[in-house]
Amino acid sequence: MSSIAESVTAAAPRVPIPANGVDYRGKIVLAPMVRSGELPSRLLALKYGADLVWGPETIDRAIIGCQRQVNPRNGCIEFSRMPSNGGRPDIVSKESVIYRLDPVREKGRLIYQMGTASPELAVQAAKIVAADVSGIDVNSGCPKPFSTSGGMGAALLRTPDKLVSILEALVREVGEPFQIGISVKIRILESPEATEALVSRLVRTGITGLTVHCRTTPMRPRERAIRHQLRMVADVCHKAGVACIMNGDVTSRDHGLALMEEFGVDGAMIATSAESNSSCFRSEADGGLAPWRDVVHEYLRFCIESENRLGNTKYLLNMLIPGKNEEFKQAKLSRTYTDSCRRLKFDDLVSQAILLDELLDLDHKWELGPPEGHPRSKAVQNVMANNESAKAAGGDGTRSKATSSVAHKGGPIRTSSFPAPVKAEPEQAAVDPSIPAPMAQKSEVAV
Ligand SMILES: Cc1cc2nc3c(=O)[nH]c(=O)nc-3n(C[C@H](O)[C@H](O)[C@H](O)COP(=O)(O)O)c2cc1C
Repeated sequence: MSSIAESVTAAAPRVPIPANGVDYRGKIVLAPMVRSGELPSRLLALKYGADLVWGPETIDRAIIGCQRQVNPRNGCIEFSRMPSNGGRPDIVSKESVIYRLDPVREKGRLIYQMGTASPELAVQAAKIVAADVSGIDVNSGCPKPFSTSGGMGAALLRTPDKLVSILEALVREVGEPFQIGISVKIRILESPEATEALVSRLVRTGITGLTVHCRTTPMRPRERAIRHQLRMVADVCHKAGVACIMNGDVTSRDHGLALMEEFGVDGAMIATSAESNSSCFRSEADGGLAPWRDVVHEYLRFCIESENRLGNTKYLLNMLIPGKNEEFKQAKLSRTYTDSCRRLKFDDLVSQAILLDELLDLDHKWELGPPEGHPRSKAVQNVMANNESAKAAGGDGTRSKATSSVAHKGGPIRTSSFPAPVKAEPEQAAVDPSIPAPMAQKSEVAV
């Protein structure tokens, strides 16, 4: 813990931190972010000095029914299920990894965030992951209709009885038996009085921490965070012995530490600044912001190690690589890990990327051709040959799905990201018109 945080919190009473839990005090943490908060991004944040990482919000019903498996290739724990396919039994699908974590590198540092509007479902969902994480956080701040229409996220700010009952149920039925902390992430309300009344109730539920996003529900992300309620929220938390983390326009570790001192809060949470350069968690004294190429190299390494879904990897690459850069344009064109690494000249990652492309059934998409000394497998060659014959016979040679002829080399493999409420699909705009038709026209196959 930093000396600043120690001096801020020394006199405060404390809700005891459970044996398998973690104290939020003195911590600069990675915010929960759907899409941007998958395992590789969390490992990246930890590498650059984040003290704790929040996983992306996962809806209670999405994790309920998942099987827990250890991936034999990398030791990651994967919670997977078969997709429902909208009830259509005719669609053949692969198992989806709903949540993936690294039990070694995230040990003692991962907080699982859930979206819920029901104490029963919240408890059921939390029990599935509780033994593998250090805390469970309830998202009570998401303003998007997909969340609020189901009574989740920011809707809970308007139904405090329900929010309190969810937190109490989690503390009693998950926090105590599993000995982990329960926490909540809220937004400020329009008036300090309304926020104070809400926070006063929440801190009496047995939670160990509360994060306050210093924007109201109607505020857009680009509007500057407002901090005039922050000291009051921290005071209410401290009187009850609950750690208070601030969130909203925190740009770096040093900035977070300065704000903690200024507003008397216990920790600071960073979202969008970490999305664009996760080395913001490194203090100036330790080197400050790293060049984007270093960050992207490490990010791709973590993606490959954790077998991240390519669509998700490319989403964050779009954030991490500066837009005007020529390598950015190049990387956007890549449709495989191998091509991404080759276009970015990360030669040391290529051999691992080849293996992952084969595993994820992407190797038939190598746009730069098979890497030197690595001819396409016979199955892939057959598919390509069939395409050529189809073209010669007047067809367009396009395969609707590229999985049929290529041997699958083991699983479980992520086939889709769920939930995926953030709509932006930057990689879709990245199809290179110069790619031959069979590749360019195909929709992204499941990876
Ligand atoms: C891409 C993205 C996804 C997000 N997903 C979540 C989420 O799953 N749960 C949540 O509580 N907040 C989510 N948020 C909100 C952030 O956690 C954070 O509260 C907000 O971005 C303000 O922090 P900042 O000013 O540092 O960006 C998301 C934000 C972004 C940009």
